[in-house]
Amino acid sequence: MPVRINPSILSADFVNIERDIGRVASADFVHVDVMDNHFVPNLTFGPQMVGRIQDVSPLPLDVHLMIEDPDRWAPGYAELGAYSVTFHAEAAADAVGLARRLREIGARAGIAVKPGTAIEPYLELLTEFDQVLVMTVEPGFGGQSFIESVMPKLTALSAAVSTSGLDVWLQVDGGVDENTIAIAAAAGADTFVAGSSVFNSGDPAANIAALRAAADL
Ligand code: DX5
Ligand code: ZN
Repeated sequence: MPVRINPSILSADFVNIERDIGRVASADFVHVDVMDNHFVPNLTFGPQMVGRIQDVSPLPLDVHLMIEDPDRWAPGYAELGAYSVTFHAEAAADAVGLARRLREIGARAGIAVKPGTAIEPYLELLTEFDQVLVMTVEPGFGGQSFIESVMPKLTALSAAVSTSGLDVWLQVDGGVDENTIAIAAAAGADTFVAGSSVFNSGDPAANIAALRAAADL
């Protein structure tokens, strides 16, 4: 099974983002958390900053939009060249229409669900999305504990993806470390976002290697 490790630059030094992206060159994608202080109680950056990150990053960007009204704002992130753009199911007015628009622009379309949001409605819509993000913390902040009780959503998604024969990536985000990554991988995740476990201690490249090994069941 392919294993993708996407370090979250929410845990990077915001005045040294280019340097910190350079430290995670062995990863697969750079995960970019856009927060608007409305959908979540935290604020990061918007399209101007993400555009500059895109300019300097050797890795493709995996943009995670924790914002209200993604129907209005998400296409702009696809237009600036993000490899994937993931918006929240809870915030989108027309999730399928928005995913189609993102694909037309040339980005992979992702849909994210918070821990309390059911996955069942989306199991029927897998043809419309390239990736599904199952949040394993309440979105908004790095450094929180992995919520293992959401694993049945991954099991259900994994079964639905296999049955469909589609190549839909299953992503987890929040509290992913060397221990919890194996739990998520066993439940069917193939794409792993990690912020604090990559950046906050030791060497990011070694941390990525350890995560990759722990996810490779
Ligand atoms: C949280 C963000 C995550 C965050 C994860 O809402 O979506 O991407 O950076 O951080 P850790 O890995 O520290 O839980
Ligand atoms: Zn994220």
